[in-house]
Amino acid sequence: MHSNPVSLDYEERGTGLPVVLLHGYPFSRRIWQAQQDALSDSYRIITPDLRGLGSSPAPDGIYHMDDLAADVVALIDGLGIERAVWVGHSMGGYVTMAALRTVPERVLAVGLVATHPVADSPDKRGQRLATAEAVLVGGSVAAVADSMIGSLVAPGTPLDSPPLRAVWDIMASTFPAGIAGALRGMAARPDSWETLRAITSPALILAGAQDQIVPRALVEQMAQAVPHALVRRIDGAGHLPMIEQPSATAAALREWLDSLSDR
Ligand code: MLT
Repeated sequence: MHSNPVSLDYEERGTGLPVVLLHGYPFSRRIWQAQQDALSDSYRIITPDLRGLGSSPAPDGIYHMDDLAADVVALIDGLGIERAVWVGHSMGGYVTMAALRTVPERVLAVGLVATHPVADSPDKRGQRLATAEAVLVGGSVAAVADSMIGSLVAPGTPLDSPPLRAVWDIMASTFPAGIAGALRGMAARPDSWETLRAITSPALILAGAQDQIVPRALVEQMAQAVPHALVRRIDGAGHLPMIEQPSATAAALREWLDSLSDR
C-alpha cells in the first residue's frame, strides 16, 4: 500500500538548528520565501516541495501522509540531519502529524500552521475523490485553483494582489497527478487528536485569526489538546498567514525558534 520515498526538490539556506518548512496543498515551497529570507540568518531553513507539488516528481498513486513524511525523512537523511524542527502548513501539518506517529525520534519540535487534526467527513472525502478523478480525466487544474483561492485568505481580501496571483500561479501549474495524489492521500488520512495529545516535544500552534478553513474554535481545541503549546494568532490573516502577513508570521516563528535555542 505504501510507496518508496520520492527524491524531493528543495532549498536550503542558513546554518544552525535545522528547521523544515512544509507547505500545504496545492502549493510549493515558494509560499515560505519571506520566512526563509527572514530566518535563515539564524537557522538552517530547509524548504522541500512535497511529492507531486512544486518541482518535485509527481508519480501516479495515492500520496499517503505517512509516505510524504517518509519523503521528508529521506531528504533530511541525505542532508545528514538526525532531528529537525518540523513546521507544517495545513497539509504540511498533516504530514508533520504523520511524522509524529511514524518517526517521532526525528522531530525535535513541532510547528502546526493553519492546520488541524480532524479526518475528513464522508462528504469531504467524496468531494476530494471526485476532484481527483476530474483532474485525472482532463479536468482543469486552473479551475481547482479558482475554486480555492477565495477561501484561502481573510474575508474581504482582494484576490488580485501580486502575492495572491503568485499563489494562484503555483496552484494552477500543479500536475494533475500531484493534485489527485494529494487529494486521495488527504482523504485517507486518520484522525490525529491522539497524536496531538501525545506530543512531548515543544510545540507551536500558529493560526490565521480569520482562517475560513481552520476556524477559531478548532484552534482553541488544539490549544487544549497539545501539552504546553505556544499559541499565536496572526491578525489580518486567513489560511495563508505566511503570504498574507509575512513579517508577523516570521516574527512568531522566530520567537518560538529562539525559545528552543534557549533551552
Ligand atoms: C491545505 O492548505 O493544505 C489544504 O487546505 C488542506 C486540506 O485541504 O485539508
